[in-house]
Amino acid sequence: MAPANIESILHEQRLFQPAPAFAARARIKSMRELQALQQQAAQDHEKFWADRAREQISWHKPFTKILDSSKAPHYRWFDDGLLNVSYNCLDRNLKDKAHKTAIIFEGEQGDVRRVTYAELHREVCRFANALKANGIKKGDRVVIYMPMVPEMVIAMQACARIGAIHSVVFGGFSAQSLQDRIEDAGAKMLITADGGTRGGKIIELKLAADQALAKGCSTIESVIVLKRSGQTIPMQNGRDVWWDDVVKNVSDQCEPVWVESEHPLFLLYTSGSTGKPKGVQHSSAGYLLGTIVTMQWVFDIHDDDIFWCTADVGWVTGHSYVTYGPLAVGATMVMYEGAPTIPDGGRFWDICQRHKITIFYTAPTAIRGLMKLGDDIPAKYDLSKLRLLGTVGEPINPEAWMWYHTHIGHERCPITDTWWQTETGAHLIAPIPGAVATKPGSCTLPLPGIAADVVDEEGNSITAPNQGGYLVIKKPWPFMLRTIWGDEQRYLDTYWKKFNNKYYVAGDTAHKDEDGYFWIMGRADDVLKVSGHRLGTMEIESALVAHPRVAEAAVVGKPDEVKGEAVFAYVVLRGARPAGGVDEALTKELRAWVTEQIGPIARPDDIRYADNLPKTRSGKIMRRLLRSIAAGEAITQDTSTLENEAILLQLRGKA
Ligand code: WT7
Repeated sequence: MAPANIESILHEQRLFQPAPAFAARARIKSMRELQALQQQAAQDHEKFWADRAREQISWHKPFTKILDSSKAPHYRWFDDGLLNVSYNCLDRNLKDKAHKTAIIFEGEQGDVRRVTYAELHREVCRFANALKANGIKKGDRVVIYMPMVPEMVIAMQACARIGAIHSVVFGGFSAQSLQDRIEDAGAKMLITADGGTRGGKIIELKLAADQALAKGCSTIESVIVLKRSGQTIPMQNGRDVWWDDVVKNVSDQCEPVWVESEHPLFLLYTSGSTGKPKGVQHSSAGYLLGTIVTMQWVFDIHDDDIFWCTADVGWVTGHSYVTYGPLAVGATMVMYEGAPTIPDGGRFWDICQRHKITIFYTAPTAIRGLMKLGDDIPAKYDLSKLRLLGTVGEPINPEAWMWYHTHIGHERCPITDTWWQTETGAHLIAPIPGAVATKPGSCTLPLPGIAADVVDEEGNSITAPNQGGYLVIKKPWPFMLRTIWGDEQRYLDTYWKKFNNKYYVAGDTAHKDEDGYFWIMGRADDVLKVSGHRLGTMEIESALVAHPRVAEAAVVGKPDEVKGEAVFAYVVLRGARPAGGVDEALTKELRAWVTEQIGPIARPDDIRYADNLPKTRSGKIMRRLLRSIAAGEAITQDTSTLENEAILLQLRGKA
């Protein structure tokens, strides 16, 4: 099970202690303070979380039950409490922070907009009233397909305010993906925009939405369209309404709908190793609590911080650390709609300088991409306000970590490498920056109240250091997913079956070192991480096979310096293989086809044609072999079962 790269990681010996100046004003100041919290959690797991929930959430009706495990692995937390997430993010900040900036928005063209808590509260109330006027009630599903503008946050918060369940679809997904997600969720409303901007280009959101709705989505009753890019788009009478119009004659006050702790706050679709993307369902109270405690523990958020998480709200990172977490703790955050390289590779650092960012959170792929552009670019900017850096989405290689540390953090800022997933709701394993010494490439230690471990095939804890195994969570935590929307069985099969419903199985492999530090090795399943985005190999294979000329396809990840992994597809055509394995026109067509079926993030970088695919005697595709070939490695696998050894040459592009 140990992947080939385990060696290089093991040689990482550097240790970075929290700087005394940082620790002195941190919320958790030392290993001793952290251990005290860990101990509380170890002594009474439920009480630990109940204490946090009482202290951090403003309840409409306090809960009396902490954890209901009677239907495990369906867990219920704080069951009989009543709350409203939007109230916790907005109303409770009005007393002291009405005029504090909640959002600093910057567009790619340089347009900047500031929204205070009082303004955000009014806009959310207005939009919540508009949702109600358009027939949306508690429990209805609303799909949001929007660019990275404050209105996306407003739309989500407005849903939360009236108990509607939002399902955000990343703006980079295709019409087909949007349609699948709308239909799976049975959504009643779609909120979109004329278009978004990225890399100087317009993303045609309304066009894609129209395509999706033309083909199906029969549950959609209305579409609210925000004017953002300004190009002319068709509006369908009786179905489509402009955002500006729906908020015109409604009140800017809207009583929150108090919901049960377990009321679903949102669905977010993510890829797995089988089938179509699944709708991960999150709760209201438990999820909110996760975003709050991690803003405090991991991001050490203070009142004067300017927080910037660069993730698109279309991913869970944007849900937890743009829409909910920063607002729930009354912070000021930055939202940027655009590419990191417009007008040049200094844009992120320019934003950090101009908006005086103190906490910066991004993905390893972005760090590697910007690192490649040269050290002189960040050197041009004043990054002295930065005090904490974070990463998320995939393992960060020590080289990128060191560059981030040296050229962005100026050896002064701790780096928090946060391990978590769409399913976990918030960080689970991450260094608490004032307490935990970091090692480049390790997400270090589990947070208090998180029972993470590495186990072997039988579910036994691996005690020997540096032995790879399955990453599991051994006790339920409040911000865990609740189920897969409409597919209980898949919830059980994917996350619980492997160890008899005892442990949550993350799907990652990991090992712990002699200090108990966690090192994530990669996915144990057929899930790729392309630029930190999660894609199922089967999803891409299905998309390819849906093309009339494709008979069979196998997709694997190929190591990529910037993206982490790139999509590599092996294709068997109906009819003859192209002469010499080359058909540039078809390759172009298939790449466009996958873009249309899923989105540009899934577009294969390489396509290789073969007469057939290497399979075991039982008919399973030999993916490990295909991965080695894609990586250009020597083949060490047994290939004696191959029907035709000549296929190997074809797969390697040598025939
Ligand atoms: C998968 C979850 C969590 C928000 C963004 C991604 C990988 C995530 C790390 C990290 C190593 C990481 C895992 C995980 N991953 N963070 N710090 N170090 N790997 O959410 O799309 O649900 O993906 O991302 O493989 O299972 P996601």
